This record gives sequence, C-alpha cells and structure tokens, in this order.
Amino acid sequence: MIEGKYAKGSHNKMHPLAYDYFKQMVLAALNDGLALYSVSAYRSYQDQDKIYQNYVQKDGEEKARKYSAKAGASEHQTGLAVDINTCFTKDHFENTKEFIWLCNNAYKYGFILRYPKDKEKVTGYIYEPWHYRYVGIPVATFIYQNKITFEEYCDIMI
Ligand code: DAL
Ligand code: ZN
Repeated sequence: MIEGKYAKGSHNKMHPLAYDYFKQMVLAALNDGLALYSVSAYRSYQDQDKIYQNYVQKDGEEKARKYSAKAGASEHQTGLAVDINTCFTKDHFENTKEFIWLCNNAYKYGFILRYPKDKEKVTGYIYEPWHYRYVGIPVATFIYQNKITFEEYCDIMI
C-alpha cells in the first residue's frame, strides 16, 4: 500500500520493488521543493474494467481506447505503473515544475514516461505526461538517453 505523502485517492498499491524506488524518487523531488504522489498505481482486472467501461460510456469505445486500456491490457495491472499527481489531460501536468523534474530525473529511479508526446502511433495511447512505469534503472537510462519509447526499446532488444 502506498501511504502518507506518497499517495492520494484509491488504487494505491504498487509492486514492492517499484514502490521502493518510487519512494526514493518522491523524497528526492521533495528535497528539490516539489511534491509528487501517486493518484493511481495498481489496479485489479475488475478495477480496470470499471474505469474503462466508464470511459466507454462517456466517450464511446473508439475514443476511450486511445487513453484507457481494456481490462487485461493495462500496465496498471502489473503494479509497475503509476499516475503521478493527476490523470487528466485537462490538468496540463506537462506545464508543471513537477513534470520537468520527472523528465530530468525519473530514469535515475528506474521510471520512464510511458506515453510520450507525438508517439501515439508507436504506443497506441495519447500523450500522458503523468503516467510512469518502473522498468529498472539500466533500462530507464537507456530509454532516456536514446529518447525512445518502451515499444522501441523492446524492438531493439528482443
Ligand atoms: N491510461 C493507460 C493507458 C491505462 O489505462 O493503462
Ligand atoms: Zn496511468
């Protein structure tokens, strides 16, 4: 369970290893005067199904599947993904100091920006400046240095 200053709201469990690095990252940001917290991390199949179905109701399937994964296909179900501070495009997290900090530092804690801008064709999802995935420091560093997505990393490595 992600607790205290590390989380707000529900769905705040995380894989223990990812959580360990997430806490280190949050503390490092705090040291720089910035507050980071999870608003959504691990989701069960049922949690994801509820979320996805709600979005389908609201926006229709064609639109919803560009920003929300079908149950069974979300990396939130792995416990390795975390939405930081928001999960809404309208909040423009990309314009915050917290986002800039994450761009420069998340890889040091093994996290990558999973759905970058202008990579919708590669990742299948719209820009999500709040969604990070723990992949471990070596992989995150490689992705950061080469400015690639996780999909492109997998294509190169596997
Ligand atoms: N918003 C991401 C794609 C998810 O639902 O897993
Ligand atoms: Zn997410």
